[in-house]
This record gives sequence, C-alpha cells and structure tokens, in this order.
Amino acid sequence: MASTPILLTLYALSQLFISTAFAQTAPAPGPPGPLNFTGILAKNGQFTYFLKLLADTQVGSQIQNQLNGTTEGFTVFAPTDNAFNNLPSGTINSLDSQKKVQLVLYHVLPKFYTLSDLQFVSNPVRTQATGQDGEAFGLNFTGQNNQVNVSSGVVETQINNALYQTKPLAVYQVDKVLLPEEFSKAKSPAVAPSPDTKKSSGSTSNSTQSTADGPASPDGSGSSGRNMGLGLVLGLAMACMAALS
Ligand SMILES: *[C@@H]1O[C@H](CO)[C@@H](O)[C@H](O)[C@H]1NC(C)=O
Ligand SMILES: *[C@@H]1O[C@H](CO)[C@@H](O)[C@H](O)[C@H]1NC(C)=O
Ligand SMILES: *[C@@H]1O[C@H](CO)[C@@H](O)[C@H](O)[C@H]1NC(C)=O
Ligand SMILES: *[C@@H]1O[C@H](CO)[C@@H](O)[C@H](O)[C@H]1NC(C)=O
Ligand SMILES: *[C@@H]1O[C@H](CO)[C@@H](O)[C@H](O)[C@H]1NC(C)=O
Repeated sequence: MASTPILLTLYALSQLFISTAFAQTAPAPGPPGPLNFTGILAKNGQFTYFLKLLADTQVGSQIQNQLNGTTEGFTVFAPTDNAFNNLPSGTINSLDSQKKVQLVLYHVLPKFYTLSDLQFVSNPVRTQATGQDGEAFGLNFTGQNNQVNVSSGVVETQINNALYQTKPLAVYQVDKVLLPEEFSKAKSPAVAPSPDTKKSSGSTSNSTQSTADGPASPDGSGSSGRNMGLGLVLGLAMACMAALS
C-alpha cells in the first residue's frame, strides 16, 4: 500500500537527477555555426596570452582563413596562461617579431592529428615554423597507454586535454610553452650560472598568484563523476523497486 508513493518519489528523484546530469553535460559540443579557431580558445578563458600572440602575429587569422580550404587540416598546441607565466620573465618580450611568428607557428602542425594519431606518428613531425634556411622546425611525440608527450628538444610536456578534435581542426592544451631548440642554439652558448637564481625565485612568487586560477582538468573528470553518481542512484532505485515488489 505504502509502496506506490515511495516508488513515485524514487522515480521523480531519478528523473530529476537524469535531467540535471544531462543539462550539465549537454553544452560541451562546439557551436553550430562556422568553425571559429580563436573562438574555441576564447571560450575557455585560460588562453589570453596565446590569443594575444595569435592576434599580434596574425597567425590566428591565417589559420582561420585556411581552415575553409584545407584538406589536411591543422593541429594546434595551445599553451595556457600559466605556461606563459612560468617562463623566465622576459622570454617572450626578448623575441623580435619574426621570432614571435616562429614561436607561434611552432605550435601548429599543417595536418589534423587525433591524439591516437600522435601516439604513433613518425618523428620528427614538421611544424609550420621554418628557420632562415627554409628548414621546418620539428616536434617529437612519444605515446604510451593513450598518454602522449610532445618534445621540442628543450621542453617536454604531456598533451592532456583536447579542446577540439574534429577534422579539419584539432586543438590541444599544453601546460608548457614549446620553445624551439633552434632558439636556444641561436642565443648565448652557455646558460648564465648563479646570478639568475634570485630572478627566478622572484618570478616564482609571481606565478604562484596565477596558479590560483585553478587546475584545468576538473571539467572532464567532473562529468564522469556525475555519471557515476547517476549510475549509483539508478542502481539504488532499481534495488528498492525490486525489494518492494
Ligand atoms: C570568433 O570568436 C571570436 C572570439 O569569441 C570573435 O571575436 C570572432 O568575431 C569570431 N569570428 C568569427 C568569424 O565568427
Ligand atoms: C568557404 O569557401 C567557399 C568556396 O571556396 C565559400 O563559398 C564559402 O563561403 C567559404 N566559407 C567561409 C565560412 O568562409
Ligand atoms: C607577472 O605577471 C604579470 C601578468 O600575470 C606580468 O605582466 C608581469 O610582467 C610578471 N612579472 C614578472 C616579474 O614576471
Ligand atoms: C611523459 O612525460 C612524463 C614526465 O613529464 C613521464 O613521466 C612519462 O613517462 C612520459 N610519457 C611518455 C609516453 O613519454
Ligand atoms: C627528435 O628525435 C630525434 C631522434 O629520435 C632527435 O635527433 C631530434 O633532435 C629530436 N627532435 C626534437 C625536436 O626533439
């Protein structure tokens, strides 16, 4: 006799849970309009520095214009604001405008790669950046258990978040700026020894402020957490129904 209201309540609760779970996961796919490269980054909020470089060097609009005609597509590695903040101070400002273009183009591959493509790609992979001799700067990729690392020879980092992955465009977040090996070769031969330690401790305090912006990943893990919660509630509801009938 009392079982019907209980079942109804359980049913209502599970419906509520389903609707909130889906309402929160639904907005993930990109906008229905035309593909907007910088829009993908702007939407995220933690790529303001890279967006500024893309605008200053006009590489952003070049990619946007070429997206329409490309058959190969593009893969872009987007360093976060934290990645730029963690560079020794002055690293970017010391680059002339040609080097800035090279740096941005070094984060662009003239081909669409999924993460699993990158895991098995043959190294080195040509980037859009070229030196004065016309030789393309390369990146190396190593993969293991669906985990892909990218290396410039001087910087290595994990690729851990796909912001967009639909041909013709793949955009992956990276937590370090990929500095080309060629930049450090061209600079002074030896890294300055001790006097720099004071400077770097100063910039560490600067970057600790920006880490307050928080970790980037909970987005994906949060939704799987909700899905697990959903499964639990449904399982409980079914167990109750079975016990009551
Ligand atoms: C792409 O998005 C950016 C930032 O949201 C916006 O400023 C720009 O107008 C958009 N471009 C197109 C072609 O929609
Ligand atoms: C893409 O290119 C085609 C023809 O090349 C053109 O008709 C279309 O308007 C372009 N679309 C965009 C969004 O620029
Ligand atoms: C500290 O970070 C801000 C932006 O976050 C930047 O404008 C400033 O140049 C940085 N200062 C140093 C010493 O790195
Ligand atoms: C990627 O780099 C991390 C350290 O940053 C290392 O622990 C891991 O083994 C590397 N993975 C691959 C596939 O090279
Ligand atoms: C890539 O790896 C090859 C050897 O496998 C090495 O010679 C080359 O310097 C590496 N390039 C980069 C950019 O790491």
